[in-house]
Amino acid sequence: MGEKFDYRSAPDPAMMGDPSGPEPSRRGFLFWIGAALNTVAALLIAIPVVGYLFSPWKKGAWQKWTDLGSTEQFPKGQTRLATYVNPFRTPWDGYTAETPCWVRREDSGDFTVFAVNCTHLGCPVRWFPESNLFMCPCHGGVYYADGSHAAGPPPRGLYTYEVRVKGNSLQVKAGRLPTLQESV
Ligand code: FES
Repeated sequence: MGEKFDYRSAPDPAMMGDPSGPEPSRRGFLFWIGAALNTVAALLIAIPVVGYLFSPWKKGAWQKWTDLGSTEQFPKGQTRLATYVNPFRTPWDGYTAETPCWVRREDSGDFTVFAVNCTHLGCPVRWFPESNLFMCPCHGGVYYADGSHAAGPPPRGLYTYEVRVKGNSLQVKAGRLPTLQESV
């Protein structure tokens, strides 16, 4: 007795794309359209996932040493407001590219530069030299002069920038605002 032919396992010529075969059927056409759309969707999902997985290797991208001004503008033992222009600004950023930060110069001459944004919900904090505290106007967050958390809802101290002195100029690593990952 001959082997029974199973028509279900036979390839559909329309699905094989054989040019000498019969004209592609509507089913074959829809199959390939579906496959192409699935491939595009898989790529769109994969791009951010791969970007996230490789992001630790990109640390430092979108950051650039940027001048805050001469070191003489920041007297020892004082905290002063400074502003820099985001080095990755776009023409339509306008004034929003101007980024404020608080510069503290210790009596030893060392610098600490704090992001102005409160670590609770991001309101700009203000420095009060009379009380030696940073205070947030939104929900009463308070920070000590060294940026550490003193009171109120903020979960941690102020974020700090990477800082260096080059020649006579104080510089910060600007671009991406400091966060838990970037803060030093
Ligand atoms: S945003 Fe500063 S305390 Fe809430």
